[in-house]
Amino acid sequence: MEYRFLGRSGLKVSALSFGSWVTFGEQVDTDLAYSQMKTAYDAGVNFFDNAEGYENGTSEVIMGKVIQKAGWKRSDLVLSTKIFWGGDGPNDKGLSFKHIKEGTEASLKRMQTGYVDFLFCHRPDLYTPIEETVWAMDQMIREGKALYWGTSEWSAEQIRKAYNFARQEHLHPPLMEQPQYNMFHRHRVEREYDMLYKDIGLGTTIWSPLASGLLTGKYNDSIPKGSRLALQKYGWLKEILLDTEEGHSRIEKVKKLVSVANDIGITMPQMALAWCLKNKNVSTVITGASTVKQVEQNMSAMDVVEKLDGDVMKKIEEILDNKPGEEQDWRN
Ligand SMILES: NC(=O)c1ccc[n+]([C@@H]2O[C@H](COP(=O)([O-])OP(=O)(O)OC[C@H]3O[C@@H](n4cnc5c(N)ncnc54)[C@H](OP(=O)(O)O)[C@@H]3O)[C@@H](O)[C@H]2O)c1
Repeated sequence: MEYRFLGRSGLKVSALSFGSWVTFGEQVDTDLAYSQMKTAYDAGVNFFDNAEGYENGTSEVIMGKVIQKAGWKRSDLVLSTKIFWGGDGPNDKGLSFKHIKEGTEASLKRMQTGYVDFLFCHRPDLYTPIEETVWAMDQMIREGKALYWGTSEWSAEQIRKAYNFARQEHLHPPLMEQPQYNMFHRHRVEREYDMLYKDIGLGTTIWSPLASGLLTGKYNDSIPKGSRLALQKYGWLKEILLDTEEGHSRIEKVKKLVSVANDIGITMPQMALAWCLKNKNVSTVITGASTVKQVEQNMSAMDVVEKLDGDVMKKIEEILDNKPGEEQDWRN
């Protein structure tokens, strides 16, 4: 396993990490979660990602039980949770001081831990002033409930506004962002955040590196039984990923990508994950899995990164045909 600094901090995260969205509490019970997390941990994963909104907190309960059962040293783990969707009451959603404090405390109880290493604002909240959220996240750190805080799916402008306010008021600034990043979803990570890496040392913990499984090639011919896009509850995801013209064109691209992977003797999931790992602004690639075998396969992506040399990356780029444009150099 490779360990990368999380942005401009002294903390190291495993380049491949493991998260529980959709899976824990839906497809994966506590026993299977234990086997999955143990497999990931044995492969060197130290970062495990969660959120108060995953299965209404059940996912955090399962992760907490697994960590207790495994008896891992807390200092060997980097744990996260994300606050935004905590319930149906008028103050159970969003990023008010009240919900950040109460949501974080409830998450810590469910995970059976005194603190999370990373506390994320799971989305921007259009109704709470950013200043209130920054004060609240700083307070969670001062109370010892979190070590670092960050955002998820915030625009560069929102992140910079939070950062500048924190600096001006001598509060803890956001350190990391959790954006979607994969072969089909590139603009924010490759283009929009570019200045933030340089200016504020932003780290990234990227999600859905396999585009919910699309980039494994498993949906190339049909929707396999039991797979994520066959789950009734996630019909909305299938609609976005498969039932659109863009979805169809993506499947055609995956078919071509599979043959590039075959040519260099690796699998499609390995290639898609290794492609994310090649980006040095990615601090960690959060993988997801519904079986232990998938965890094993995904961890092996670490061993094939070197196979994605300049020629292979060029072939992939030609197939994807979606590279975000460079900043215009008006001098040349
Ligand atoms: N911040 C956010 O808003 C946000 C949003 C989403 C996710 N996340 C985080 O990021 C993590 C990863 O996201 P994700 O689960 O969407 O990742 P992903 O890698 O895009 O998709 C994972 C799913 O793909 C399938 N899969 C994985 N490995 C496979 C393999 N080797 N072969 C075949 N199928 C495979 C499995 O689903 P099936 O077997 O069921 O098909 C698995 O659950 C989440 O657990 C969560 O912690 C964060």
